[in-house]
Parts: sequence; C-alpha cells; structure tokens
Amino acid sequence: MSPGGARFPVPPRLLLVAVLLLLPHSNSAAPSCSPGPPVVLVPGDLGNQLEAKLDKPSVVHYVCYKKTDAYFTLWLNLELLLPLVIDCWIDNIRLVYNRTSKTTSPPEGVDIRVPAFGNTSSLEFLDPSKYSVGRYYGSYFFNLVESMVAWGYKRDGDVRGAPYDWRKAPNENEDYFVCLKKMIESMYMEFGSPVVLIAHSMGNMYTLYFLNQQTASWKNKYIKSFVALGAPWGGVAKTLRVLASGDNNRIPVISSLKIRGQQRSAVTTNWLLPYNNTWSPDKIFVSTRDANYTIRDFQKFYNDIGFEDGWLMRENTEHLVSALIPPGVRIHCLYGTGVETPDSFYYDSFPDKEPKVSFSDGDGTVNLPSALQCQRWQTRQKQEVTLVNLPGNEHIGMLSNVTTIAYIKKVLLGL
Ligand SMILES: *[C@@H]1O[C@H](CO)[C@@H](O)[C@H](O)[C@H]1NC(C)=O
Ligand SMILES: *[C@@H]1O[C@H](CO)[C@@H](O)[C@H](O)[C@H]1NC(C)=O
Ligand SMILES: *[C@@H]1O[C@H](CO)[C@@H](O)[C@H](O)[C@H]1NC(C)=O
Ligand SMILES: *[C@@H]1O[C@H](CO)[C@@H](O)[C@H](O)[C@H]1NC(C)=O
Ligand SMILES: *[C@@H]1O[C@H](CO)[C@@H](O)[C@H](O)[C@H]1NC(C)=O
Repeated sequence: MSPGGARFPVPPRLLLVAVLLLLPHSNSAAPSCSPGPPVVLVPGDLGNQLEAKLDKPSVVHYVCYKKTDAYFTLWLNLELLLPLVIDCWIDNIRLVYNRTSKTTSPPEGVDIRVPAFGNTSSLEFLDPSKYSVGRYYGSYFFNLVESMVAWGYKRDGDVRGAPYDWRKAPNENEDYFVCLKKMIESMYMEFGSPVVLIAHSMGNMYTLYFLNQQTASWKNKYIKSFVALGAPWGGVAKTLRVLASGDNNRIPVISSLKIRGQQRSAVTTNWLLPYNNTWSPDKIFVSTRDANYTIRDFQKFYNDIGFEDGWLMRENTEHLVSALIPPGVRIHCLYGTGVETPDSFYYDSFPDKEPKVSFSDGDGTVNLPSALQCQRWQTRQKQEVTLVNLPGNEHIGMLSNVTTIAYIKKVLLGL
C-alpha cells in the first residue's frame, strides 16, 4: 500500500490498523434474528471514503507520487492535507469538466473508486487510519450504527451503507442507483420486510432523486419509510462562499483558497447552490462593491469569479430535484435549528479574500427554509410526512445526538 500519494512514510501501526479494518467481519445472522426492518444508510457530501490509484504522466510537485501499486484512501486521510502534500491531493481529487460531453472525469492517470458498496465501514469513519486513536477522528455514522448494533442489528447484514462518489451529481452516477435498487430488493428478499432509508444532508437529495425514478408500486413494496436528516432540499447559501473564496471550515489546517480549486471542480458544490423553490428571486446572497448577486445572477456570479464551467455544471444538474416531487413514501424530516448558519456574504475584495458573513437560523450548514421544504409534501402525497425540529443540533452533530437516535429507534422498532 502506498502512503497516500505522497512520498512520506506512514507509521506501520496505522497501516496495520487500516488493513485490519478491511478484514471481513463475521457472517450476517439468520433473517429471523433481525430486530426490525432492514436499513440502508445514504451519506452526504464528503460523507464516505474514496480511494485512488495513480499512474500519472506528470505531477504538480516533486513530493507527489506519480504511480502507486494499489488503491489508497484519498478521502479522508488527514496526512494528505499537510502543506505541500495537499497540492498532490488536490491534483488527484479534482474533476475535469468536458464541455462537449457535459461530464466530468479525473485528471489523466488517476483512478478513483468508492470502497465497499453495501458495507457501513466507509461511512462510519471517514479516515480509516484514525480508527484506533482514542477519540475517533472523523466519526460520521459510527454512533448511529453502533446504537443499531446494540438493538440487535448486524453491520453489513440488516444495516448496510450506500456510499457513492459525492463529487458528482446523480446524472453522473446512474450506476449507483442501479446498485442501490438491487441492494434494496435483495435486503427485502433476505429479511422479508421493506427497507427503511436513512439519509444525511445531500444524501437526501440523492434519495429523493432515486425515489422519484421508481414507480409507486415498487415503492409500496420495497420501501417502509425514509428518515431524512439535515436535508438541504432547496440548496445551501454557503455554497456561494465556497465557490467564490473557498471554505476550509471542516478542515482548518488548509487555507480556503487552496481547497477552493477542489471545491469548485466538484459538480455537487454547484448542484447545491440555492434554488428558487425556497428563496425569493430578489434575495441577495452575495454583495461586493460592484454588484449584488441573487439566484437570477448566478451566470454573472460564475463569470465574475472566473469559473465559467461552474455555470454549465449548474445548468446540467439544476433540474434533477428542483421540482421537489414528493418522495411518495412515509417520510420523517429531522432538522437542526438554533445554530448560526451562513445566509449571505459581503466581499470587500472579491473573490479572493474572506467575506463578512451574515447568519440566520439553521443547523450551521443547512438554512432553515431549505430544511422546511419537507412541509410541502404534507398536502402533496398520501403517505404521512412528519417534521421534527431538533433545537441546538449542528449539521453533523445531529447524527450522534441521543434525541435523533431515540427517534430512529422508535421508527425502526416502535419503542
Ligand atoms: C470531451 O467529450 C467529447 C464527446 O464525448 C470527446 O469526443 C472528447 O474527446 C472529450 N474531450 C476530452 C479532452 O476528453
Ligand atoms: C464488506 O463486509 C462484508 C461482511 O462484513 C465482508 O465480508 C466484505 O469483505 C466487506 N467488503 C469489503 C470490500 O470490505
Ligand atoms: C426558477 O428557476 C428555474 C431555473 O432557472 C426557472 O426555469 C424558473 O422559471 C424559476 N421559477 C421562478 C418562479 O422564478
Ligand atoms: C446592492 O443592494 C443594496 C441593497 O438593496 C443597495 O443598497 C446597493 O446599492 C446594491 N449595490 C449594487 C452595487 O448594486
Ligand atoms: C440533542 O438534541 C436535543 C433536541 O434537539 C437537544 O435538546 C440536546 O441539547 C442535544 N444534545 C446535545 C448533546 O447536543
């Protein structure tokens, strides 16, 4: 295994831990032992591991690996985000947009794959090498899965993960939906019960897109309910800042401008820009000395930040879920409130300097009006729609909150 695309040694102990993690768990139990309906977990943006293998014609810096013999964890591996090494990382994780085919691909010589579809491992922890280090760095679905195991669920048996390449929008991930559908059908067969889908953040837009593609009879048969955690149904205001000047808030060791290149090249950053299904067309999201930008000014915004491909990516993906067609299944929408959430941005110097940020209500990432779009389905589908406010819950924190976990337990086990 290569030390992650950079020629720096990785302590053997960490490698050993990573290898141990990949060993098979024990086989899943007999169907009769299932405590409740089978569950599929759908993560959000940045929410599961990605692996890379390299055979590149050239590299951006002498410290970067050109070729690796095997796949290594590209996301998340904190060691790859250190100074210098991060340049290698950005050149490996970025996507290149082709204006003719309207699709993205990795740079030449970079092969990216999503590890272990079906397993929960790649979304429980983002950084497998940090598994053993006291506090679990980058713990994501871990607390929820651990609780489910305590209720009698089996990892990779009646609770499974559906990771995907979160840099791309659903239009470039059609194979994923084929795999997801097959997995749901096979869990239904194996456990004799329709499946509960639990998604977080952008995973909810993926799940909505998936459900919108299925017939009502398929959904009646195979889906018991959909638990939507922190869903940005109408987009997220802070994506505008991410595109303009970058946002390092998840990983403070990196400078915002450094990470901006990667963040722009991910189609999903553009897909998650605010939608007029939630915000007024007159709402000003970004102001500079020279201009105000509303939803109607996105094309000008992309021109002014010097990222015209972003406008094309937005145009290609805007229609995927913007109509907010009802999911057509029983849905529970849980959303955090009472956390300062970026709402609009003022740039003294546009776009390369950090903006002044105005805040409003939400979970720190998802603006409240976006989460509340779930409400519109109460009168638009016959299946029940329940909204649950989680005061004081932050976007990622809500996954581990006892109230959230107790609610999910009630949905699954009726207790
Ligand atoms: C872009 O896509 C077109 C159409 O699929 C293809 O012919 C062309 O080779 C692609 N360009 C690059 C640089 O890959
Ligand atoms: C996924 O989990 C199953 C069961 O725990 C295991 O047998 C399998 O090897 C895992 N797959 C990968 C690719 O890690
Ligand atoms: C919302 O935006 C879409 C896409 O730009 C546009 O087609 C539609 O007319 C807009 N709707 C309203 C009410 O402004
Ligand atoms: C932006 O909008 C504000 C408030 O409507 C207005 O006062 C300001 O003059 C506008 N700025 C520009 C550059 O148009
Ligand atoms: C968990 O969520 C509840 C309900 O929103 C909230 O009152 C509580 O403070 C949260 N707990 C923690 C530790 O954040």
